[in-house]
Amino acid sequence: MKRVEGKVALITGGASGIGLSAATLLAKEGAKVVIADFNIEGAKEHAAALVKEGYEASAVFLDAGNAKSVEEAVDFTVEQYGTITVLFNNVGLTNIHKDLDVVNIDLDEWDRLVNVNLKSVLLGSRYAIPHMQKAGGGSIINTASMAAFASDQIRTAYGATKAGVVNMTKYIATQYGKDKIRCNSIAPGLILTPAAKNNMPDDLLDIYTKYHALPYHGEADDIGYAVVYLASDESKFMTGQTLQIEGGHYIANPTIEDQNAWAASQK
Ligand SMILES: NC(=O)c1ccc[n+]([C@@H]2O[C@H](COP(=O)([O-])OP(=O)(O)OC[C@H]3O[C@@H](n4cnc5c(N)ncnc54)[C@H](O)[C@@H]3O)[C@@H](O)[C@H]2O)c1
Repeated sequence: MKRVEGKVALITGGASGIGLSAATLLAKEGAKVVIADFNIEGAKEHAAALVKEGYEASAVFLDAGNAKSVEEAVDFTVEQYGTITVLFNNVGLTNIHKDLDVVNIDLDEWDRLVNVNLKSVLLGSRYAIPHMQKAGGGSIINTASMAAFASDQIRTAYGATKAGVVNMTKYIATQYGKDKIRCNSIAPGLILTPAAKNNMPDDLLDIYTKYHALPYHGEADDIGYAVVYLASDESKFMTGQTLQIEGGHYIANPTIEDQNAWAASQK
């Protein structure tokens, strides 16, 4: 038996990066997957490629911050496969030219990110939960970010909305746990997806890697495999949690380099 055999999964932002990895791995582990994305051409192409390989997959257009569009994507999933038992609320973004520090942030960008990064989690869950209740349970997985826990000079709205995702995860887990609906988040550190590559030049990426405990970058599958675990019954006693998958970037005392320099200067 495969790890998520018989489950029906809707993956938002599934046409690229982390969402595409999760959709692919879930399909290979036996789930029926719906790839929902703004980029419908990309979603269709990836679903067709999975079908060609013998897996069950479909595509649907999604505008993740729009209630009607999210409801339609959930309805499509249920029409296609009879239910929905896994929801991966994965869409999230920022624009580093507009999402600035508190004084200078573009207020329209703030509103857009609250909608796309945070309200999208509420919307997906709101429309999927009644189907999960009917099915006797389900698993909701949200993509947060380490930006929920560690601040930055810019990306104020991104960090604030991702912190909201971490907390909403606990609310969903609390409110629907008795219906056997679990809700967990994943907080990725830097993962080399198209979004990260577009937002960050190579020399900036290298600065990040220098501070990882591990000597390499994170990749989309490092998150995709965690999604399979959280979607599967292997994690059946886990809810309301946030898995931090970040190469050990945030585990060390940040003064270590200065302390080492100080110790060397004492010799
Ligand atoms: N890549 C990283 O380093 C990193 C780190 C922490 C958290 N994250 C989070 O991971 C998630 C996925 O990021 P990624 O790096 O895989 O990005 P990506 O750009 O590779 O993929 C995002 C997908 O979402 C789709 N999308 C964007 N806006 C949408 C909308 N409004 N409605 C529907 N679809 C939409 C895009 O078309 C794209 O296919 C995001 O929530 C992001 O904040 C990423």
